Amino acid sequence: MRVLITGGKGQLGNDLKSSVYEREHSNPGLDFTFIDIEDLDLTNVNATQNFFSKNSFDLVINCAAYTAVDKAQTDEKNAEIVNADIPKNLAKLSNTHKFNIIHISTDFVFDGKSNRPYVETDYPSPLSIYGITKLKGEEHIINESYGAIVIRTSWLYSKHGNNFVKTISRIAKERGEIRVIDDQVGSPTNAKNLADAIMTIVSHPNLNFVCKKKEIVHFCNSGETSWHGFAKSICENQKIECNVIPIPTQDYPTPAKRPQYSVMNCSHINELFNIEQIDWRIALKAFFSF
Ligand SMILES: NC(=O)c1ccc[n+]([C@@H]2O[C@H](COP(=O)([O-])OP(=O)(O)OC[C@H]3O[C@@H](n4cnc5c(N)ncnc54)[C@H](OP(=O)(O)O)[C@@H]3O)[C@@H](O)[C@H]2O)c1
Repeated sequence: MRVLITGGKGQLGNDLKSSVYEREHSNPGLDFTFIDIEDLDLTNVNATQNFFSKNSFDLVINCAAYTAVDKAQTDEKNAEIVNADIPKNLAKLSNTHKFNIIHISTDFVFDGKSNRPYVETDYPSPLSIYGITKLKGEEHIINESYGAIVIRTSWLYSKHGNNFVKTISRIAKERGEIRVIDDQVGSPTNAKNLADAIMTIVSHPNLNFVCKKKEIVHFCNSGETSWHGFAKSICENQKIECNVIPIPTQDYPTPAKRPQYSVMNCSHINELFNIEQIDWRIALKAFFSF
């Protein structure tokens, strides 16, 4: 099976590289190609068409995305092109070239008003341009592709790229006192755990069957916390002496509104592929111990 991974230089793309490398010997029938924007700008429709005419794949894992949540508020056109138009074009090409797609989406498609973890069938109602464009991308993939799985994930961090873990680690060391929002609750997710889950799906006998049904699944680390709880844990794990002060959202205004509660129920991915969740505290500890 030939697998193409887009967004190969992003957080998830890099962790997928590690997962592929670790499983090289247990997956002899899988051939992976990683690309990023400098290999192929997926917004270039003609170049993308040419690429798929010259190279054949059975599965495309789309990790390419516009992920600057606040910037998207004033850069709607680019967010739309990357998060909605690229999936639309990939969906179209998947019919011509008969490949399945694993597409990555986000908890930010929800409005955060739920009082229990979100299930896949809950009505999405995004609060930001990023969330709106990601929802459009999901819809193109589900409605227009040859076969697909959409995986929604949340609060990703990785050794690669910029993320909350890196930012908090840096400013906590510099300042010794930081203020962090404590009334937005979600599930921090180690991108390596998501990469491992994707690798399990790729080599699972149910892959083609589930793609044909075009399923949405949720995957995040288990448990929940606020950004404040997450920041405290980041400092504790690294023994950084820092006073982490809880503040309400209104004291840290951002251009994009975020859901107050975006915890996701992940039992569906477990039913389909036998993928268990790891507690976010254990995942964070593991992150710092490598
Ligand atoms: N980060 C989070 O907290 C989070 C939370 C929930 C869901 N997600 C979703 O998870 C997925 C992976 O996120 P991530 O954090 O790994 O993202 P990321 O680190 O921002 O990686 C995205 C990659 O896509 C590339 N890309 C952007 N535009 C492209 C284009 N026109 N053609 C080809 N490649 C392009 C980017 O290149 P450049 O860097 O050069 O732009 C980057 O390497 C995304 O779908 C995201 O929406 C992320």
